[in-house]
Amino acid sequence: MNILVTGANGQLGNEMRIVAKESKDKYIFTDVVEVEGQETTILDITDLTAIKSVVKANNIQVIVNCAAYTNVDAAESNQELAEKLNAEAPKNLAIAIKEENGLLIHISTDYVFGGDPYNTPCKEDQKGTPTGVYGLTKLHGEQGIIATNCNYVILRTAWLYSEFGKNFVKTMLNLTSTKPQLRVVFDQVGTPTYALDLAKAIMIILDNYNKESLTLNHEPFTQNGVYHFSNEGVCSWYDFTKMIAEYSGQTGCDIQPCHSEEYPSPVKRPSYSVLDKTKVKQTFGVSVPYWTDSLKQCIINLKK
Ligand SMILES: NC(=O)c1ccc[n+]([C@@H]2O[C@H](COP(=O)([O-])OP(=O)(O)OC[C@H]3O[C@@H](n4cnc5c(N)ncnc54)[C@H](OP(=O)(O)O)[C@@H]3O)[C@@H](O)[C@H]2O)c1
Repeated sequence: MNILVTGANGQLGNEMRIVAKESKDKYIFTDVVEVEGQETTILDITDLTAIKSVVKANNIQVIVNCAAYTNVDAAESNQELAEKLNAEAPKNLAIAIKEENGLLIHISTDYVFGGDPYNTPCKEDQKGTPTGVYGLTKLHGEQGIIATNCNYVILRTAWLYSEFGKNFVKTMLNLTSTKPQLRVVFDQVGTPTYALDLAKAIMIILDNYNKESLTLNHEPFTQNGVYHFSNEGVCSWYDFTKMIAEYSGQTGCDIQPCHSEEYPSPVKRPSYSVLDKTKVKQTFGVSVPYWTDSLKQCIINLKK
């Protein structure tokens, strides 16, 4: 298959570059800017004409959309841009891939939930109740894709980190090595996700699609739908920080739990946004590593 990856210089995009090296499929990695040492085709996903042109020129069968407006706090004061990138752009990708009768794999977020109080893992068909602009625009993105009637797999993920770009793990590695004391919120609970695990799950979904697409003959992909993927388990940001410090050997910092009110932020984050991953495991045979095992592996990879 010919597969186009958008946002290829972000966290997930970079992990896709790594796992794609093992694949027989042809990958085109795209983003808005070039990064030294990475082969990148320039593609702005807010430009429908440009998307159609790259898709047709490369005979693309699958788009993996790793591009997004991901700054949760800044989205509150940049609603127009967040909507353009998180809602209008994924719809552009859906329109372009539908013309080729291909598949769009799109990444969404646990922040589509959070407005309703609950304490059991969120299922895919649970009503979206975002607490901020980022979650709302990501929810609009999902709805826009589904409305085009294209073949789609929407993967909601959470608390993404990797050895690339800016993320919580890298911030805490820095803070726990430079500060004597740190207070981290313990009243927001979720599950971290190593972007490399998500990229591996995407490869398994691509394998499933590849097998079925040979017999599809313009029928819809039988596995079209919304799925959840994070690592396994549950923790607070405080627990997450404790394990980051322990696995990196930076135990000199005194890490204490605190409430969210201590860190005023432009957006209220969900207090509980754990994702139920039963569907993705049963449908695609994806295996989901426990969050501490993946964190340990990422810290090893970061040190390489
Ligand atoms: N990060 C998290 O904690 C988290 C949690 C849940 C879900 N997610 C979802 O997971 C996906 C991947 O997130 P990530 O953390 O890997 O994102 P990321 O690191 O922020 O990467 C996004 C990439 O998209 C690029 N981009 C920006 N505008 C673009 C445009 N108009 N056209 C094409 N590319 C554009 C960015 O370039 P610039 O950097 O140059 O702008 C960046 O390289 C996203 O859908 C996100 O919403 C993330």
